[in-house]
Amino acid sequence: MLTESQLQDFVAYLRIPSISADPARASSMQTCADWLQGKFSRLGFHARVEPTAGPPVVLAKRAAKGAAKTVLIYGHYDVQPVDPVALWRHPPFEPFIENGMIFARGATDNKGQTMAHILGVEAAWSAGGPPVNLIFLLEGEEEIGSPHLAEFLSAHREELACDAIVVSDTSMIAPDFPAITGGLRGISCLELKVSGPAVDLHSGVFGGSVANPATELARLLAQLHDADGHVAVPGFYDAVADVSPAELKSWRDLPDYDAELLALTGSPAVAGERGYGSRERVWSRPTAEINGITAGYQGPGSKTIVPREAVAKLSFRLVPNQQPRVIADRVAAFFTARAPRSVKVEVTYDHGGDPYLTVSDSPAFRAAQCALRDVFGREPALVREGLSIPTVSLFKRILGRDTLLIGLGLPDCAAHSPNESFPLRNLERGIALHRALLTRLAEAL
Ligand code: BES
Ligand code: MN
Repeated sequence: MLTESQLQDFVAYLRIPSISADPARASSMQTCADWLQGKFSRLGFHARVEPTAGPPVVLAKRAAKGAAKTVLIYGHYDVQPVDPVALWRHPPFEPFIENGMIFARGATDNKGQTMAHILGVEAAWSAGGPPVNLIFLLEGEEEIGSPHLAEFLSAHREELACDAIVVSDTSMIAPDFPAITGGLRGISCLELKVSGPAVDLHSGVFGGSVANPATELARLLAQLHDADGHVAVPGFYDAVADVSPAELKSWRDLPDYDAELLALTGSPAVAGERGYGSRERVWSRPTAEINGITAGYQGPGSKTIVPREAVAKLSFRLVPNQQPRVIADRVAAFFTARAPRSVKVEVTYDHGGDPYLTVSDSPAFRAAQCALRDVFGREPALVREGLSIPTVSLFKRILGRDTLLIGLGLPDCAAHSPNESFPLRNLERGIALHRALLTRLAEAL
């Protein structure tokens, strides 16, 4: 059972509206970082709130007597925006408990999971062990692509030296079926702007005599995929690495995903690139997504104009060995080549992150398998996930270390959606898991 004080810590953490995407929440970012520093200090860590050009990084360290090895635990204290707020059954920053689930923005992504780490360490230490030095690195910009983290890691490379990195920010297969994530997709985010006339025009006076940017944007976007759902950008698939037949087979042995996918999404049917199953599409194939389209009049009734510009926000999920900048350049060339001379096309790169793939036979990996087996009573699945945690490839590049991805989220926790939740049972098991993992890592590293 969770103790009252554990639950209070979690609720206090969830109450802070640390939305990194919203400049109006800058003071909440600081409040959240300060709150974490207080918690770490009470636990006996040497904890600092380190400023960056964006929200601060929380860095907490504690050496253990007689320990030769160091484990770095990374997570993020920032959360996604809450809109559309009308769809929340309870206010997103007033945590609400119902049927063993806690509802709040950040419940699963990533406050519940970072809390499991923190309380796991607290539980381990009040029992006297284990002999391993710890570093917590909690950033406040993960949800906006970690723009200042590479610089932070480079500047603090020496004091972040470690023997293993653990991140709990991914998902399990099902409530009693844990997973270790061996691969993540990368991402390349950009904006496509199509502009035409200098101002919005009367569509009766000018419509038909100059190009309509919204129409041209729609035409360009419609060319992104071919009829089989493949991305039509030349060279898009050039660097894509094949998945081994053995890995594919292990995915096909997992419980069927399509029915769950329909229930989770509410979509009328599954869809995607021809020739691939749903898990393969998400775990091992790159995609092009339109995240938002804006053009012209959106108010009540109608307004007869030719809008001066039309904008689409796009993101591309990448797999090994695609590179975010290379993909953005190819996409820009694709749109530029296909745009008519009657409009101007601009592509602006926003942010990106490299895909990640790790080996599954390291001492840390085996330690995680043992800890998961101890706590969940079954063998964890070895999976990949479709989402991106750009930091993980930065760790590899800058700190030279692989990351152990053992998430406690569930597919129905509604990360990034209204009514985000986290089962309190996952917090409880997460505490036990992270406590057990530290012991296993101390033995294995
Ligand atoms: N923790 C999430 C990824 C996640 C989502 C795990 C749902 C499990 C279930 C992570 O914080 C995230 O959302 N990453 C972003 C990164 C992007 C903004 C660079 C993503 O994948 O969109
Ligand atoms: Mn997250």
